[in-house]
Amino acid sequence: MGQKNFTNKHVKNYINKGASSTFLCAQKIIRIMNSPSSLMIPFLLIFLFSFSRVASADRHEDFLQCLESQNFNSISKVIYTPINSSYSSVLQFSIRNSRFNTSATPKPLVIVTALNVAHIQATIRCSQKHGLEIRVRSGGHDYEGLSYVAVIVPFVVIDLINMRTVTVDVANKTAWIQTGATLGEVYYGIAEKSRTLAFPAGVCPTVGAGGHISGGGTSMIMRKYGIAVDHIIDAQLIDVKGRILDRASMGEDLFWAIRGGGGNTFGVVVAWKLELVPVPAIVTVFNVTRILTEQDATKLVHRWQYAIEKFDDDLFSRIFIYRANSNQEGKIMIQAAFTSLFLGGVDRLLSLMQESFPELGLVKEDCIEMSWIESTVYSAQFPRNSSLDVLLSRRYSSSFFIGKSDFVTEPIPEIAFEGIWERLSQVGVHLAELQFTAYGGKMDEIAESSTPFPHRAGTLFQIQYAIIWFEESIEADAKYTSWIRELYSYMTPYVSKKPRQAYVNYRDLDLGVNNLGYTSYKQASIWGTKYFKNNFDRLVHVKTAVDPANFFRNEQSIPPLPSW
Ligand code: FDA
Repeated sequence: MGQKNFTNKHVKNYINKGASSTFLCAQKIIRIMNSPSSLMIPFLLIFLFSFSRVASADRHEDFLQCLESQNFNSISKVIYTPINSSYSSVLQFSIRNSRFNTSATPKPLVIVTALNVAHIQATIRCSQKHGLEIRVRSGGHDYEGLSYVAVIVPFVVIDLINMRTVTVDVANKTAWIQTGATLGEVYYGIAEKSRTLAFPAGVCPTVGAGGHISGGGTSMIMRKYGIAVDHIIDAQLIDVKGRILDRASMGEDLFWAIRGGGGNTFGVVVAWKLELVPVPAIVTVFNVTRILTEQDATKLVHRWQYAIEKFDDDLFSRIFIYRANSNQEGKIMIQAAFTSLFLGGVDRLLSLMQESFPELGLVKEDCIEMSWIESTVYSAQFPRNSSLDVLLSRRYSSSFFIGKSDFVTEPIPEIAFEGIWERLSQVGVHLAELQFTAYGGKMDEIAESSTPFPHRAGTLFQIQYAIIWFEESIEADAKYTSWIRELYSYMTPYVSKKPRQAYVNYRDLDLGVNNLGYTSYKQASIWGTKYFKNNFDRLVHVKTAVDPANFFRNEQSIPPLPSW
């Protein structure tokens, strides 16, 4: 029953998202059902259904036998199938978006929580032998759930949760991290060895190093150092042939592609070698809020767009814009939280802010000095003076969630902000948020083609739109999806064009998806150029060279060129 619901819902999703193949298949079935010979169809469907169940059960058994025969390293202890009592808890543990944790969500046939490289190699080999699709999961934060959900069933999940070693070499300012590590574990591991080394990666400590770095990895020190992929100096990858490759053996093209070209496309990344960056012993943070609708703060947000161009590279700046509680007259208020991390002490920060953005009115009392590692705890919104151990927690309170992204190259006119505030004020839109993240600084100096992540010089700031909710219903999903799509459409005149850029780590299947079964370069280039601009073509060439049969794939993986 659950499976049937899912199929209908997914066909609808695909229709909405403009993916033609599933839609056409659905149309074809409906047309046949309406034809004179349709009386035959139920019997045919029953036959096909029972045949596919038998075939699937066989495939299941054969796949498991294959896994066990391939491996000497007790793989049976890390295989979970729906008949295991812990299957559901293992699956759900790293699901970060409740939209993909319902009874209608398709579930993997098998989850392999690999303990070592041999387990991954065996899973790849056996999946190929038995025609099963693979999903690779590190931290499970994919916005569209692509690391643990597949439209084509049955499928297998390789979950890297057990492969999370972090080894820091302070003398050489490097670290090897396994991709199942979370960013919190990486930051904690670095801080155990040094308080003046850091790594430029994302804010939420539960995000996995595997998916995050595969898609770029923006950070709170990106204006000083760029993003995560700018500091990857080696990697260990298992390719489609099951070989273990490092930078030298994979070659510079493939090494380029895995640093930002998106996960689950070129192989399974087992580990990254990071180049660590220096940070001062004391950094300064602040989080200053203003009520936009009451304190004339729209002007402040407008002005911020000009100020960030003059910001010192040591200063990171982000604005969170969201709906606050209503005021005493019951009027909805929109609030802006100006958040910063500054690589230095408070006195220098105050003087820089006075020069570049005096309108904010920042005062010493707004600022807190701390170490960089403490700032990672602060930015993740743990209570002040929390133990650093919170960085090691994988606990996450999941909600239903949709996100989208944009890049802004010209300041948005003040009047346009009013339209955003109006949309945030609409009835029922309680937990919506926009994040404006300043680019510039070091980001302007790194060539667009140096990694697949192309959003460099010329980007003023990045926008993330997000809405979360807690009620599980098709109506709620439809309501919030349509709200965010309308906002995204409203923003069209104010953001980057030709292409309208998007950030692959804020995955958005509204931008387009690969067909089921066969892929199209032309179709993929619609979303591919939004994520990668001109780098998309090079990614396609690398994919064609290393995985021409498209074994590693998902709805937005890079397609290979056809072989004719
Ligand atoms: P997940 O395991 O879901 O993987 C994501 C994709 O990568 C999937 O396609 C998966 O198959 C693939 N993949 C995972 N591991 C792989 C491996 N070892 N080899 C090959 N492919 C692999 N982004 C950002 O840049 N800066 C930020 O500050 C934040 N903050 C943030 C907070 C929160 C709460 C969320 C939910 C998300 C973010 N993100 C972010 C976005 C985040 O970087 C993005 O969702 C990453 O893909 C998540 O990586 P995970 O490993 O957690 O996801």
